[in-house]
Amino acid sequence: MHLYGTMRFNSKGHLEIGGCDTVDLARDFGTPLYILDEAEIRGKCQLYRSSFGKGPGESEIVYAGKTLMTMAVARLIEEEGLSLDVVSGGELYTALAAGFPVERLYFNGNNKSREELRMAVKAGIRRVIVDNISELHLLDEVARELHSNMKILLRVTPGVEAHTHEYIQTGQLDSKFGVGLANGQALAAVREALGKSGVTLVGFQCHIGSQIFNLDSYRAAAGLMLDFIAKAARETGFTCRELDMGGGLGIRYNDQDTPAGVEDYAAALWDAVEAGCQTRGLKPPKLLVEPGRSIMGEAGTTLYTVGSIKDEPGIRKYVAIDGGMTDNPRVALYGAVYEAILANRSAAGSSELVNIAGKCCESGDMLIWDLPLPSMHRGDLLAVPCTGAYNYSMSSNYNRLLRPAMVLVNDGEAHLIVKRETYDDLLRNDIIPERLERQTRPKSMGVAL
Ligand SMILES: Cc1ncc(COP(=O)(O)O)c(C=O)c1O
Repeated sequence: MHLYGTMRFNSKGHLEIGGCDTVDLARDFGTPLYILDEAEIRGKCQLYRSSFGKGPGESEIVYAGKTLMTMAVARLIEEEGLSLDVVSGGELYTALAAGFPVERLYFNGNNKSREELRMAVKAGIRRVIVDNISELHLLDEVARELHSNMKILLRVTPGVEAHTHEYIQTGQLDSKFGVGLANGQALAAVREALGKSGVTLVGFQCHIGSQIFNLDSYRAAAGLMLDFIAKAARETGFTCRELDMGGGLGIRYNDQDTPAGVEDYAAALWDAVEAGCQTRGLKPPKLLVEPGRSIMGEAGTTLYTVGSIKDEPGIRKYVAIDGGMTDNPRVALYGAVYEAILANRSAAGSSELVNIAGKCCESGDMLIWDLPLPSMHRGDLLAVPCTGAYNYSMSSNYNRLLRPAMVLVNDGEAHLIVKRETYDDLLRNDIIPERLERQTRPKSMGVAL
């Protein structure tokens, strides 16, 4: 199996990440456990900054917080000099609570509420990325009420849909995100924005998909965006100063994945923007990108303990772990394919194909099919790499399972950055109406176990 980031096997045959033995991590923090490799995150942030920094103009890397957002993650992103994109009041609240600099905060999302927009305007964040005309009106109203003016990017749907290896260019759009180029909505939104006193239009944003391997998708999208920038300039006199090309760069989850490198991605985007501006007689705008998965994905590993093992002779062998779709819903949601590795002993010797099952009451709660592993026993530790993106951030309490803890590992040290949930956390928001209250119910939350 591919070893990511600082992963290695130590002399005891145990998997180590960030210089920490995963057997010790399981003992000290329990399982399931999200392990975040700090050096890998910092390395990716630095690679993004240096790769885009080589371009001919100004650039900004805006980490997409939806990928994985905790206060400690916000701190790391800040320290590495990236900006941060939030998509909800909750993400904004987290960023503000972590003391993230407001002048580096962006706010995406297709249905921001009045309260969320108020929060953003009051905090004085850098940009709101306005998704549609209705939101444009709402933000303008909110900003004027607060005697403020918000600088905005307008989310445009260029008509490029990217899916890993291919992309399709559709003139006709059917997306809940953004204002369409083909149907004239984007131009109408520019005209509207220019007439509003509560907002100042600065540029445009698009996001064509996620887990994209083919850089032609980005070249195509950049071309369409530049066409639009030229058209908007001709028809409204608006000069686009910032072009945000969203996120989406793919990563390696398994042998079938062949992602492009960050350097090639940056070069492809810059080349497309520079050449495209030249042919259209445009002054190149500042280039922004919003990477998420390609910064955080490979830095995360989930450590599980093996429980029940069930052999259906001639059919398949199920190895159940103490987590599943609650901590990693990507398999059930998208059919994502992960690899995994035995973490607590050397995997030398013969292997068999097993199927890793979660512990939820859903047949669909399977984590990995047909995984080659040595003979597994109850109590073994299984490490599933590449779980830094869209795992914790998409986790749930289905079946009232507890969300795992998260540790940040580096140079042999492990720091808890998210506590494991407790049973009392599950009860925190539950209320029993008085008429259902039983006399005998204990006053405290303390339930006899
Ligand atoms: C608007 C926007 N920007 C950035 C991202 C991050 O994408 P990725 O994690 O694929 O880089 C997303 C993800 O869906 C998104 O919707």
